[in-house]
Amino acid sequence: MAPTMSKTALLPRTAPFGDQERAHLDAALGAATPIQRAWLTGFLAGLDAAAGQPATAAAVPAAPSKAAEPLTILFASESGNSEKLAGDVAKLARKQGFKPKIVDFAELDLATLPKAGKLVAIAATWGEGEPPARAVRAYGELMGEAAPRLDGVEFGVLALGDTSYAEFCAIGKALDARFEALGAKRAYDRADLDLDFEKPAADWIKGALKALAPAEAPAGNVVAVDFRAAGGEDEEAEVSREPVTVEVIDHVNLNSSRSDKETIHLALEFEDGAPAYEPGDSLEIFPENDPQLVEDILKAAGLSGDEALRKALLSERDITTLSVTTIERFANATGHADAQKFVESGEAKAWIEGRHLIDLLERFPVTLTADHLNTVTRPLPPRAYSIASSRKEVGDEVHLTVAAVRYETHGRARSGVASVHVADRIKNGAKLRVRVKPNKHFRLPADPATDIIMVGPGTGVAPFRAFVQERRATEAPGRSWLFFGDRHFTHDFLYQLEWQDALEDGSLSQIDVAFSRDQPEKIYVQDRIDAHAAEVVAWLDGGAHFYICGDAKNMAKDVHAAVVRAFQTVKGLSAADAEAHVAGLERAKRYQQDVY
Ligand SMILES: Cc1cc2nc3c(=O)[nH]c(=O)nc-3n(C[C@H](O)[C@H](O)[C@H](O)COP(=O)(O)OP(=O)(O)OC[C@H]3O[C@@H](n4cnc5c(N)ncnc54)[C@H](O)[C@@H]3O)c2cc1C
Ligand SMILES: Cc1cc2nc3c(=O)[nH]c(=O)nc-3n(C[C@H](O)[C@H](O)[C@H](O)COP(=O)(O)O)c2cc1C
Repeated sequence: MAPTMSKTALLPRTAPFGDQERAHLDAALGAATPIQRAWLTGFLAGLDAAAGQPATAAAVPAAPSKAAEPLTILFASESGNSEKLAGDVAKLARKQGFKPKIVDFAELDLATLPKAGKLVAIAATWGEGEPPARAVRAYGELMGEAAPRLDGVEFGVLALGDTSYAEFCAIGKALDARFEALGAKRAYDRADLDLDFEKPAADWIKGALKALAPAEAPAGNVVAVDFRAAGGEDEEAEVSREPVTVEVIDHVNLNSSRSDKETIHLALEFEDGAPAYEPGDSLEIFPENDPQLVEDILKAAGLSGDEALRKALLSERDITTLSVTTIERFANATGHADAQKFVESGEAKAWIEGRHLIDLLERFPVTLTADHLNTVTRPLPPRAYSIASSRKEVGDEVHLTVAAVRYETHGRARSGVASVHVADRIKNGAKLRVRVKPNKHFRLPADPATDIIMVGPGTGVAPFRAFVQERRATEAPGRSWLFFGDRHFTHDFLYQLEWQDALEDGSLSQIDVAFSRDQPEKIYVQDRIDAHAAEVVAWLDGGAHFYICGDAKNMAKDVHAAVVRAFQTVKGLSAADAEAHVAGLERAKRYQQDVY
């Protein structure tokens, strides 16, 4: 059947097409924006040129070719979400006739920003309201007094974050305000997105590109089309984002029974072959909530009889996180006046510290509906775990090192959702839903002859098990040096026997350990770096790559300070010059971190 003729038929009856073709083209072109039409003209002309066809009257553009609208896409990312979205923006922008350029904040030259013209910035927040580690330098410069004016730049900011943090989307918010303060014009309002950002981010990207598109592409103009592969943004092959089910084939507590810690070595098997993960990537686990907590919540909400809700609360909803947003939603959904006042007075902000949803339901008892609970909670986010294996050694398996999170606040015992699910409720033969989360900024050197220094206390050691396995399997000639630390040598030396084997077979050249509680004074990995400063500097001067994984709050900063100190003491550099030297290593991708 012929499609309905568009009321705004574009093609004249004299066009060299049949009625049906004309109707199809009218239907498609009638809905296209001016810039899409101009792009299409350029695209067809380019195709003909590429195919070596002689230019016919029909293929030659009526007006001179117009350059595609440049668009700078700036991203600040730690675990890859903002970077992935920057790629999505570029793909759509290219389709819409822009000429996109993706810029990692880590590599931003601030002097180029005033010439950006159109700018999309996507920024994640880390730490406690801090920029992602690789973005710290450029972010500091942008916020500093020497930042250039941005008059003439039009921008939109997409902020990624997690409502469970007090400083929700702080970096995106700060960038949005900073661009405006420097004279740039906000073309599209900022969106602050939580962990379930995929759908709202796609909507925001569409809206932002529409707002940033030029008002009119004059009829007859041609947008020069960039014929690079649409997926050219990403150098590494894309791994599927679809979760898959795996079977637990090994589940061992790496700590001794007398340790006050519990760290599970988990081996998982993929039925249809392991996805193409690389050492340095993480695996996201889609966990289940504690069934006892589900019962407590159902009871507090007066909904113990609702089986469908019980199922949803177990595996689909985040029933622990409590943010001010949660309380606002609770107050709005239930009309609870006291809860409303609690938020408005500002009291809620301090009260949520160390508390969970169950505390809210007990503080403001009210009978809820399933809809209320769905509105108040967000989808249960997966948790990332550094992959502790190399496919070259373990085939279709993937190994993880998961530390059980248990603590007590406000008189109530609390459990980390995913880690305690793994520790307590997952045994051999159990199934888990997982998804690979690639991290191309935490990679072994391309040249296997390059030396590596790895600093990974606690579960931070996980990716270095993968690094060592990979280097053993590839017989890499480069030297490998591991700094490991934990509480007690006897109880907490994760993978001790494996490191001994690795030292014997040469895949590990050196190991230095720091057990903080085995002597009166605390000793940490940074103290071991201090003690080996000359050797660390010699390795780095010889081209070694330096890696840190594990605790972001203290360890990564302390290790950074120790490396800076090493250059000061060994080479007599000033503190500023030593900092600059380490910043240079970072820019050269020879100082990489994966911290959390
Ligand atoms: C890239 C990446 C790689 C990672 N790799 C690993 C890994 O290899 N191994 C590993 O074990 N973890 C790893 N993690 C951390 C992991 O993703 C989870 O964050 C961790 O297991 C906790 O998740 P959970 O669901 O058990 O706890 P959640 O339910 O998420 O609870 C954790 C929260 O509880 C609160 N909390 C924790 N302790 C206390 C306390 N003492 N007092 C008050 N509040 C507290 C904090 O708010 C904390 O954020 C990684 C994280 C990232 C981002
Ligand atoms: C250790 C850690 C600290 C975080 N700190 C914050 C924070 O202070 N504020 C916030 O809004 N989000 C915070 N987040 C959430 C991240 O911003 C969020 O996961 C984001 O999607 C990451 O994007 P990226 O992959 O581009 O880095 C934190 C996440 C982790 C794992």
